[in-house]
This record gives sequence, structure tokens and C-alpha cells, in this order.
Amino acid sequence: MFFIHLTQFTLYLVAFVAIATLFAIAECFRVRKDDLRPPEPMKLPIIGHLHLMAGYQVPYQAFDALAKKFGSVFRLQLGCVKCVVINGQKNIREALVTKGHHFDSRPNFERYRQLFCGDKENSLAFCNWSNTQKVRRDMLKAYTFPRAFTNRYYSLEELISLGAQSIVESCSGEALTKGVISRSCANIFTRHFCSRNFGLNDADFEEMVDNYDDIFYEVNQGYAADFLPFLMPLHDRNLKRVNRLTHKIRDFVLTRIIESRFEESDPTSEPDDYVDSLIKYVKSEETDLTWDSALFALEDIIGGHSAVANFLVKLLAFLAKEPQVQLTIQEEIDRVLGSKELTISDRTLLPYTEATIFEAIRLIASPIVPRVANRDSFINGYHVEEGTVIFLNNYDLSMSEELWDEPEKFKPERFIREERFYKPDHFLPFGGGRRSCMGYKMVQLVSFGILGGLMQKYTVLTDRPNYTVPVGSLALPKDTFSFRCVRR
Ligand code: HEM
Repeated sequence: MFFIHLTQFTLYLVAFVAIATLFAIAECFRVRKDDLRPPEPMKLPIIGHLHLMAGYQVPYQAFDALAKKFGSVFRLQLGCVKCVVINGQKNIREALVTKGHHFDSRPNFERYRQLFCGDKENSLAFCNWSNTQKVRRDMLKAYTFPRAFTNRYYSLEELISLGAQSIVESCSGEALTKGVISRSCANIFTRHFCSRNFGLNDADFEEMVDNYDDIFYEVNQGYAADFLPFLMPLHDRNLKRVNRLTHKIRDFVLTRIIESRFEESDPTSEPDDYVDSLIKYVKSEETDLTWDSALFALEDIIGGHSAVANFLVKLLAFLAKEPQVQLTIQEEIDRVLGSKELTISDRTLLPYTEATIFEAIRLIASPIVPRVANRDSFINGYHVEEGTVIFLNNYDLSMSEELWDEPEKFKPERFIREERFYKPDHFLPFGGGRRSCMGYKMVQLVSFGILGGLMQKYTVLTDRPNYTVPVGSLALPKDTFSFRCVRR
């Protein structure tokens, strides 16, 4: 009996000691993890560190200044949102690539939810990682990264040449506006992804392009309300307006692009374009994509034309101030191509023209779309809690004096080594890893075709010599630079 009691007592004691030890270890671990949290500046009630972002042209400049005081990885509390800012090539690569699967979610800003009809998972860029996103990305690759020497590549080449030609034609006598550039880019996209072409004076098409441009501008704005949700009601009217625009785009896509393709498409035949691929997948047995989500993906990708068009306007605005760069491009094209019309297959032969595009991308310094940690993880030895919003400071990688000679200057030659185009490893304008930009090849190809085609025939001037090109985002407001083009 005594023996039995002793055994039970011993068992209780052992269990108690074991549980207490586990708690102690967990507590130690918690304290250790807390010790490993990145440093943070002093914060204010409610707004946290939001005030530290004030007074900078680009919020990422504030990150640079803070990195000098707090090191390459630091914490910020922006309103109610826990954030970690990651600086430096090594740390950014750790977050994007080595531990890319720990940091593949996107923030849950209320604005994104409202912009995508109540569910941010409808968006290609703002959804969290999921099997559906993997499928959407895999399906897109064939179209956004067409392999050289394939029919799809040559068809895109022709579309880009036609787009460039329509821009060149519109230059004679008239100002070259963002509207003209946007419509030409939109036609390249709708033809490439959906096999649909629209007249440049088609009023519905023009309205669709304007609506996309408006939404692109909206999505690219930083709002204090993203971090202080109680401010959201201030944006109510604007968000409702933007929501109406998204519905108008859906109407256009259904009536002028899809028409009866969904019902009529034969899922057993080879897809002709991205619309076919989406329909085939939605009708297949292994599908986890609804037709509604597929339409959102299609609309997102057609909207890529706004990114290219806004970028091209900024590129031309830089060039209008750099007559010597325009001359060098023109000399390169004349020397290599003579009177032959430029096409995207000439890219490798024209490194300076290619380098000019990258120099503009560098100076615009558009940020990497914020990520979110989907689990507890570590960056550079610092503990990053699950749910933390991650800002990857590529502004520093694009503009640092340690990485670039005279970083504020427009110098395409920095992207040339031994007479060939060269991209330094630390330059990451399109992010990296499993959430990297799906459109960077389209940006390079379309920009090259249009810039090259234009420079072959025209020199670009501006009527506003004292402007500065806004940086830190791709988007420009609707009314912005226009150009005078002088025939060479
Ligand atoms: C100069 C123009 C552009 C720049 C600088 C740019 C840059 C970026 C960056 C930095 C990201 C986030 C990458 C990351 O989190 O690692 C991104 C994502 C994305 N971009 Fe672009 N982009 C441009 C144009 C385009 C175009 C034209 C398209 C469409 C054809 C496009 C489609 C996307 C998509 C779908 C994503 C989200 C990918 C995902 O989250 O899985 N982008 N872009």
C-alpha cells in the first residue's frame, strides 16, 4: 500500500517537475526570443512610429535614416500594425529567397479588401500565398515570360512593333500624352493576353484605359488609414468611386473581351491565349479556381499596361531633360540598325537603349510590395513574429552611395560592362523569390520596343523644363507630363 502511494506520489512529483520544467524552458525561450527582437525607436501612443515617416519625399528615405541609428533590421509600430524594416542586400535576399516561404503573405489592409470586392485574395499582387496563387502564377508564366524563338514571342514582337508605330504616328504635330501611350500599351496587352484589339478612338476602350489608370494611381498611394483603420471613413467616398470603376472594367471585360468565349471554348483544345488557359483550367476537374477569381486575375494582368504606360511617361520625362542620353540612344540605333525598323529581338544589340530603361527604373525606386511573415522566423539573427508586416528597403539598394557612383544622376552607362548590358546583383527593382514581379519581362520588352521605335524617328522635348519626376512610386496622376516630339 505504502509502496503504491509512494509510486503515485513519485509519479505526481515527476509529472509536476516535468511540467514546471517545460514551462520554465518555454519562458526562457520566450525571454530569449524577446531579447532577439530587432531594436525599435521610442514610440508615441496610438500612432507608434508613424511620425518618423513625415518630412521625407519617399517613406523609404526615412527607413534609410533609421537604419543608420538602429541597424539593418529594426522594428516599427506604424499605428496598429507591427512592422519590421529590412535593409541591406544580404538581409533582403534572406527574406525574399532563402526564407521566401516564411515571408510570402501580403498585408491585410482594409483598403485592399475594399478595392478587390471584399476579398484581397482576388488580387494577384495582394493575396496571401496559396495553391491557387501558385496555379495562377504558373499559368501566367507562358504569357508574361514568352520564350525567345517561339510563336508566342514573335507574335508579341509584332504587337509591340504595332504599338510603337501607333505612338510614333500620333507624334506628328500633336503632343504625346499619357493617354496615347496608355491606349497603345493597353492594346498590346489585350491583344497578347486576350486576342482583342480596339480602335484608339473607341470611347468604351478609352474609358476602360482611363479607369485602369485611375485605379493604378489609387493602389499605389500610401494611406495613413492603412495603419490607423479608424481613419478609413475619410476615404469612404473615394473608395466607393474606385469600386464603381472596377465594376465598369468588369463590364467591359465581359462584354468586349470575353463575350461568349466561356460557353463556347473547347477545354480539350490547346489554349490560344491567356483567356483560353483560364477557361480551360476553370473547366478542368482539378480546378480550385472559380470563373469569378479567374476574371479578377485576367483584369489584374490587363492592368499591367498601366504600370508600363506610367513607367514610360516617367522614362520620357527623364529623357526630355537628358538630350545627351537621347543622342547616344539614337547614335546606337542608327549605327547598329541603319534604316531597319527596330524590334524587340534587337535588345542584345542595343545595350545603351536597354540600360536607359534600367536607369529610369532605378531612379524611380518603386518599392517592393510589403510582405507579411506567415510564421515566427529570423532575419539576420533577429526574431520576427508571425503576422509582422515586412518592408524590404530596395530604395537603399537602388540609391545608396556605397553601391552606385553619383546615384542621383541619370547615367545609363552604369548598366554597361564590356559593351554589354549588365545588371548588378544588388539591384532588385522587381523583388524576388516566389512573389517576385510577374510582369518584369513585359516591362522590359514593351518599354524597349516603344522607346527604341520613338527614338529612331523623334527627339522628345517637354514644355515644362523645371519639373522633377516624382519618385518612390510608378504612378503619375491623370494630368501629367506631355511631350513635344521633333522629327529627326
Ligand atoms: C516598371 C514596372 C514594374 C515594376 C517596377 C514592378 C515591380 C514589382 C515588385 C517590386 C513586385 C513585388 C515583388 C515581391 O514582392 O518580391 C511586383 C509584383 C507583381 N507585379 Fe510588378 N512591376 C512592374 C510592372 C508589372 C507589370 C507590367 C505586370 C503585369 C504584366 C506586373 C505584375 C506583377 C504581379 C502580378 C505581381 C504580384 C506577384 C505576386 O505577388 O505573386 N508588374 N512588381
